[in-house]
Amino acid sequence: MSKAKVRAGIVGAGFSASFHLEAARRVFCADVEVVGVHAKTQGSTEGFAVKHGIQAFADLDALLAGIDVLHICVPPALHEAVAVKALARGIFPIVEKPLTGYFGDDAEDFAGRGASMAQARTGALDSIKRMLAAEAQSTARILYAENWVYAPTIQKEREILEKTKGQILWMHGEEAHSGSHAPSYGHWHLAGGGAMIGKGCHPLTAALYLKKVEGRARFGKPIRPATVTARTHALTQLPNFVDIGHIRADYVDIEDFAMTHVTFQDGTIATVFASDIVLGGVHNWLEVCAGNHRTICNLNPSNQLQTYNPVESQFDDIYVVEKIGTKQGWAMTAPDEDFSHGFPQEIEAFYRAAAYGDAVESDSELAADCIATIYSGYVSAANGGIEEPVSLL
Ligand SMILES: NC(=O)c1ccc[n+]([C@@H]2O[C@H](COP(=O)([O-])OP(=O)(O)OC[C@H]3O[C@@H](n4cnc5c(N)ncnc54)[C@H](O)[C@@H]3O)[C@@H](O)[C@H]2O)c1
Repeated sequence: MSKAKVRAGIVGAGFSASFHLEAARRVFCADVEVVGVHAKTQGSTEGFAVKHGIQAFADLDALLAGIDVLHICVPPALHEAVAVKALARGIFPIVEKPLTGYFGDDAEDFAGRGASMAQARTGALDSIKRMLAAEAQSTARILYAENWVYAPTIQKEREILEKTKGQILWMHGEEAHSGSHAPSYGHWHLAGGGAMIGKGCHPLTAALYLKKVEGRARFGKPIRPATVTARTHALTQLPNFVDIGHIRADYVDIEDFAMTHVTFQDGTIATVFASDIVLGGVHNWLEVCAGNHRTICNLNPSNQLQTYNPVESQFDDIYVVEKIGTKQGWAMTAPDEDFSHGFPQEIEAFYRAAAYGDAVESDSELAADCIATIYSGYVSAANGGIEEPVSLL
């Protein structure tokens, strides 16, 4: 049987657009043609187009006219509008994380830190509702690009849960590094928050996913989040923070540390840490404590490969691992970081959905649960960590 032909476009020409393009070119199930790109400026659009041998589109609508799948690789504040536009045309939007959020009240002097988090939660839930309504009316579906769901470590745990029918009692995990590179990160009106949403969404969604898997395996229906308790801090903004340059510290109105503790519908729990203050490369892991087994999912670093380099400059043109401060000495060098993070696997699954109608594990319900949990987390944090219910949509 010949492979289905799928035409794709990318909106955004930055960091995530590059790894989406790489992954789209590795798709095996379908014959994918990446037609073109549209980004904010003519320069960035054309630069990306020339580098990757695709067309530059000055206008998003012109790009949408000729594609079946749209990779949405722009700041979170734009996700809803672009995804809704794609869905209205029957185009499958692959939406980068976080699905959506609350991006302020349009006031010039809006500041996320100190803003009403009750209002933020209402705004975020309204945004999800609009996206779900657009999906319900479309022939296409939202494909939520949470790569942790497709990471090989998390998928191995899915298999263990399905085959052993284990009960997860507690999960704990983290995503952390020394600061996001994206210029939009640090501004609440573009990113919808700080560490809790920007980084915490990854281990949180993996935890929400595994509890769904457990529920499916044991009862035929997912176990979903019920309440959340959270604390947030802006450590790099403390007046006594000692800035010696290793940690990004120019955040405008976001938190750089978050602890999010979720209680599920069955009373079991997950605790997720997210921060921008951890040196030594990314620290992405999730540990699962079940009644019948225990699993430690090390997404990055992992010790599958370790290198010792006595002279920094020897590795100048060798990629070692994400956000490492130095290539000298011992390193947990990643042999295929994209694969360990689940990027090619998620994009393969999304093209199977677009081309052949397959179900996806990372869908709009999982994405909506994540955003609903996080914004109830922000309400909790604003109230010193009081337990808050999670509104399921
Ligand atoms: N899954 C992951 O591990 C991961 C990693 C990084 C980023 N992301 C997500 O990817 C998304 C983009 O982040 P990034 O790191 O690629 O940011 P980036 O700053 O590197 O790139 C953003 C791109 O968006 C474009 N853009 C901005 N406004 C636009 C507009 N109005 N119209 C068209 N294009 C516009 C810019 O031109 C730029 O090319 C975010 O949602 C982020 O959370 C996910």
